[in-house]
Amino acid sequence: MNPDKSKQTAEEHGKCMLTRRKFLMYSGTAAATSSVITLNMFPGTVQAKELQAQVTTYPRTLIAKLSELKANQPLDFNYPDNGPNSQAMLVKMDVPGGGGVGPKQDVVAYSYMCTHQGGPLQNEYKVVGEHRVLGQCPFHLSTFDLRRHGIIVSGQAYESLPQVLLELDGDEIYAVGIMGLLFGRTDNKLAG
Ligand code: FES
Repeated sequence: MNPDKSKQTAEEHGKCMLTRRKFLMYSGTAAATSSVITLNMFPGTVQAKELQAQVTTYPRTLIAKLSELKANQPLDFNYPDNGPNSQAMLVKMDVPGGGGVGPKQDVVAYSYMCTHQGGPLQNEYKVVGEHRVLGQCPFHLSTFDLRRHGIIVSGQAYESLPQVLLELDGDEIYAVGIMGLLFGRTDNKLAG
């Protein structure tokens, strides 16, 4: 640990972040088009069986152009649809973050809905030295770390903020999935 606790080396920060490859694997968006896969469970045992698993697919939605983003100025959008609780933000943090895209891996996107009781996090993006947070939530003060996949910094929430997965294609930034469950939904793809 850096003896100066107010500063964190890039190496220390990297230990807390998933690689982009792992990030996409954990999120389940690596399988972009298939809808059903067959799993061989417990092979070689009496419990051996085949199960079918549903793979969620998300729309690939153009959000912004990288060249038009200004550092630390969030851009609002809706994803994966325009239904309830789909409000989200894209921001170029000017410091690297887990799952970030762009040359500095500093462009990330998150839901605006607090995971505790759905408090609105619009206008709560803050730059605090090298830290980038969303919060405090106006309801019960939860704050989320945007450099570390939306983990909780403080407050009443106990789940990380859902992170919108991004892809960079030339200068265009696309939303391609969500890691985590949007507040108020039982399935991110079901708006009703
Ligand atoms: S709704 Fe955000 S902390 Fe309770």
